[in-house]
Amino acid sequence: MKISLPENSKMHSKSFTFGVATASFQIEGAADSRLPCIWDTFCATPDKIRDGSDGKQACEHVALWKEDVNLIESLGVDAYRLSLSWGRVINQDGSLNQDGVNFYINLMDELNRRNIKVYVTLYHWDLPQHIEDEGGWLNRNTAYLFQDYADKITKALGDRVYSYATLNEPFCSSYLGYEIGIHAPGLATKAFGRKSAHHLLLAHGLAMQVIQKNSPQSLNGIVLNFTPCYPLTQSAEDKKATQIADDYFNQWYIKPIMDGEYPAIINDFDTGDKPDIEPGDMAIISQPIDFLGINFYTRAVYQACSDNQFVQIDMKDAPKTDIGWEIYPEAFTDLLTSLNNTYSLPPIYITENGAAIDDHIEDNAVNDIDRLEYYQAHLNAVNNAIEQGVKVDGYFAWSLMDNFEWAEGYLKRFGIVYVDYQIQKRTIKRSGLAYRDFINQRID
Ligand code: BGC
Repeated sequence: MKISLPENSKMHSKSFTFGVATASFQIEGAADSRLPCIWDTFCATPDKIRDGSDGKQACEHVALWKEDVNLIESLGVDAYRLSLSWGRVINQDGSLNQDGVNFYINLMDELNRRNIKVYVTLYHWDLPQHIEDEGGWLNRNTAYLFQDYADKITKALGDRVYSYATLNEPFCSSYLGYEIGIHAPGLATKAFGRKSAHHLLLAHGLAMQVIQKNSPQSLNGIVLNFTPCYPLTQSAEDKKATQIADDYFNQWYIKPIMDGEYPAIINDFDTGDKPDIEPGDMAIISQPIDFLGINFYTRAVYQACSDNQFVQIDMKDAPKTDIGWEIYPEAFTDLLTSLNNTYSLPPIYITENGAAIDDHIEDNAVNDIDRLEYYQAHLNAVNNAIEQGVKVDGYFAWSLMDNFEWAEGYLKRFGIVYVDYQIQKRTIKRSGLAYRDFINQRID
């Protein structure tokens, strides 16, 4: 099976960017040469990570980065999306850690030499622990520390970076990390979700100010994740419940950036549950961005529920990936068209899309046909959205290689490249070969 798209698809043009993505904590290892972060602490807390693992070694990318650049080049991609480890490049006193900066400089120089565009995300969840000790994202000051980090690192990296994203998925940092506690730092208080989200969004806005100043030539924006919401039935109650869930989980993060205000459900919150918004914050948050990064994996189905307002329904008979997420590619097209109809959007990049599949290596090959089918269906879904007038300029597969899958540890594999963690051997899976072949057959 090959990946193919309709002959007239805009995604056949080389002006459409294809890439692969990773994140620092999930692949780097080399924990000794950076500050401890909230995920180190979370991993060291019993019962938080399903296989009891941590990120100390991960894919040992800091040691094996040259091999990994060869791997990326061998896939023929136009771009590589990586995140920087805040605690690798900034010391506890706020000064630059030049050794850490040099690691990324060498990596980026090598990528640029091979014409692979560098897409950087400044924050993919690995908050330095000393900042968490002062309250983390619940402390407004963290937003200013992030701005300072953004200022220093963008100056240090010069013109090596094609695109900067401030944050990856503030929903996960705030809701999963501070409201329900299944991600680091593991706090579970309702009000903390909205309060930390506001400081994350403020951090985004403050960082955008300095990035646009220091690096006006790069494409600068943010990466948000969306899990589109569908009602279980067409009843008015289920539709209303679904609307509330959508505002709470999805629109909460994009509306402030695009429209300078939170969804109206904010008015229904108890005072103590509301974020602490200071005058001027919404203007900082809503300044223009050059691109919007969208991460998509699955959808969610909701039903009305009296005490809780909404409840998510498990679609028992639906096809699912190995992490239990429903495979429903139509939601990807629906998401892109509905965002496009709702907001005045800058160009979109799909910064993550992919599937956890229970795959195995045999005779040096991984026959992950289910992942390949997932990619085919979701690339079609993006193409359908483009045909309906949505401006999508790029697509990144999540992930370049198997890696530390957060609370799932190493049990779930998302890579288009297989990693044997014992011997740190990388093997391109069948999905990776198909992705490579699709990208390399482009002519113009
Ligand atoms: C995150 C990745 C993660 C992936 C699969 C996204 O939410 O950005 O870090 O590995 O989903 O769970």
